[in-house]
Amino acid sequence: MKTIQGIMKLKNRDEKISMVTCYDYTFAKIISETKIDLVLVGDSTAMVMHGHKTTIPATLDMMVTHVKAVHRGLNNKFLIADMPFLAHRKDKKTVLESVDALMKAGANAVKIEGGESQIDIINYIVESGVPVMGHLGLTPQSLNMIGGWRIQGKTESVANQILKDAKVLENGGVFCLVLEMVPSALAHKITTNIKIPTIGIGAGPHTSGQVLVLQDILGMNPDFNPTFLRKYIDGSSIIKESLDNYTNDVKNGSFPNKKESF
Ligand code: KIV
Repeated sequence: MKTIQGIMKLKNRDEKISMVTCYDYTFAKIISETKIDLVLVGDSTAMVMHGHKTTIPATLDMMVTHVKAVHRGLNNKFLIADMPFLAHRKDKKTVLESVDALMKAGANAVKIEGGESQIDIINYIVESGVPVMGHLGLTPQSLNMIGGWRIQGKTESVANQILKDAKVLENGGVFCLVLEMVPSALAHKITTNIKIPTIGIGAGPHTSGQVLVLQDILGMNPDFNPTFLRKYIDGSSIIKESLDNYTNDVKNGSFPNKKESF
């Protein structure tokens, strides 16, 4: 399933879609051997891989580097790349150059945050033959306007605007829509009012699929415990224990043993 048509088929046969972020070659190779449907090189790489507090410091160069690395490891999975902060708010030629760089790095589609206000540029990219994924609700690139990592669409007027945005994006040719941090009821309403699949993060169970950050699923950050997150392993503890076991073996001389030596 490496096409937008394949993704639509999942939605049409009511099969939930699983999406995960990935930023590097090693994990991309592992993901290739799983049942994951979609892979996103998110601008969350600025936080997860580079230690920034928000996604705003993500640059095109940063995104291209990560997309290339993931693409080298990823076999037969649909790869989406985030357009970084303000990259889609430039003149059309510059925007298309950014899209070009991400697609040449190995992406199959780009993701753009925002609704109605971004529709002209989204139209232009779609008409250029590049699939665009939308992103509504909490849009982290607008964190300074939103005022924090909080649920969006709790009031009727904001909920109505998000629903309107979703319809505008669908009409503008967006093939799939991320809904981040919105009430379950709103995500449900949007999902039943548009034909393209919705992928939720902190948006409840009624979306067409779910997305999480890989390192969050793997429990790499013990201090990050939002309500919407399910950790499948305690990666941080497992890795620390492995490194301590290795250090103990080095210090007590049991590593390397005869078999591990030439
Ligand atoms: O950058 C990212 O990781 C994302 C997902 C949370 C959807 O946009």
